[in-house]
Amino acid sequence: MPSYHSLEGTFPELTLIKNTTLREKVSRVWTTAQEKGGWTHLEDVPFTMIFPDSGRLVDHTRRITKLALAAAGVRDEKLNTDYLVAGALLHDVGKLLEYEMINGKVDKRRGQTQRHPTIGAALAQEIGLPSEVVLIIAAHSHEGDTMNRTPEAIIVHHCDFIDFEIKKTLQKKGEQKK
Ligand SMILES: [Fe+2]
Repeated sequence: MPSYHSLEGTFPELTLIKNTTLREKVSRVWTTAQEKGGWTHLEDVPFTMIFPDSGRLVDHTRRITKLALAAAGVRDEKLNTDYLVAGALLHDVGKLLEYEMINGKVDKRRGQTQRHPTIGAALAQEIGLPSEVVLIIAAHSHEGDTMNRTPEAIIVHHCDFIDFEIKKTLQKKGEQKK
């Protein structure tokens, strides 16, 4: 299990969370998911298994966090950036329990009963994250389309799809060239 400091090496954006209790809880969710999911290296977790060669989940997570902060930066409303960063960093943490490494290959079998938004939200709730952050995780995907998303949850949801759609489109184009 990585130490808190090594997790900051993986996710430097953790230091942008001003509330240290919240920052520590975000780290704890990641390290607990890593331990429960049996991942030796976080870098082995793919962004998605919906299409091949999607890259690493850690890189996707950092892109969404930076995108979300950029979007929040041009809004006039007073947004809670601690909740925004915490939610962005945690939105896909459930994939550590949805996917698993079997004989050196990533497998999706575990995700057949529950998908990562539900798994991640339940884990975050168990570790005591505020309900505003739990909502960002639960509502970031299409499962959240019928939920009452907060402005922070709306931002993370759309930033996630910006990255997903761009990666999917470029991957398809790459496939056609092969
Ligand atoms: Fe995502």
